[in-house]
Amino acid sequence: MATIINGKVVSQKIKDALKTRVAEVTPKPGLAVVLVGNNPGSQVYVGNKEKACQEISFYSQKVVLPETVSEEALLSTVRRLNGDPSIHGILVQFPLPERLKHMEEIIIREINPEKDVDGFHPINVGKLVTCKGTVCGDLFLPCTPAGIVRLLDEYHIPIAGQHAVILGRSNLVGKPVGMLLLARDATVTFCHSKTKNIKEITKQADILIAAIGKENFVDASFIKKDVVIIDVGINRTAHGLIGDVDFQSVEPLASAITPVPGGVGPMTIAMLMENLWKAYNYQTRREDTKV
Ligand code: GUN
Repeated sequence: MATIINGKVVSQKIKDALKTRVAEVTPKPGLAVVLVGNNPGSQVYVGNKEKACQEISFYSQKVVLPETVSEEALLSTVRRLNGDPSIHGILVQFPLPERLKHMEEIIIREINPEKDVDGFHPINVGKLVTCKGTVCGDLFLPCTPAGIVRLLDEYHIPIAGQHAVILGRSNLVGKPVGMLLLARDATVTFCHSKTKNIKEITKQADILIAAIGKENFVDASFIKKDVVIIDVGINRTAHGLIGDVDFQSVEPLASAITPVPGGVGPMTIAMLMENLWKAYNYQTRREDTKV
């Protein structure tokens, strides 16, 4: 029987701790979330981010732009938020609508790196790649990768010396979680759509991270006994939210596993809240930059 890694409980603990600390400061840390178009998934995620802000007593500002928004109007929204002293963190929800997809990289570069609570700006990505161990200094860690490592730590799952196999190589999750685990002395292997003999590799994993966006892709034939499985998949299907991992199939063999929902998802939001707190302290030059 695998340990079920409960992201909801860990995330609540993190939010409660932040709430206590935020009660002591004014003005409140402020998050701007920019939503372009009406992607139903994005609307849910943005709603959850706003809800978390309310829970902690962060100020949040939602900026909704129509799918038809011009490139210039989108850029000038980001520039306005860069210059707004009540806003300490800026997040533009991805994916952008197809018509504006090419703007994602441009938008990421436009956000002031000090307000980049997503950790997507090349300056923050560069710091992530060069950081040593847990001492990453003044960077924002990308939220989902940071949430994964926090879950492993909370459950006292060793990382150093372990073979972490990552399914997926996205800039959002696969690549950065690999860098974080490498910084913690894991041996890291990336697998992707062109990888040959994928099961031979995943069967060597002590920690298997599935971030490919294919429902129930990983079953018992991919794993060895006692592996720790982190399922980052959130696939919207007619049967509800389904992960990248076939939970029923792998659970008897694994030593620990994250469920979907209630595993990695809530941690992404908790890490965003921590990043906002870090951004606030950094920008207001308080000493308390530890999160
Ligand atoms: N879309 C899916 N995950 C994320 C995220 O962490 N940040 C942003 N901005 N968009 C996303």
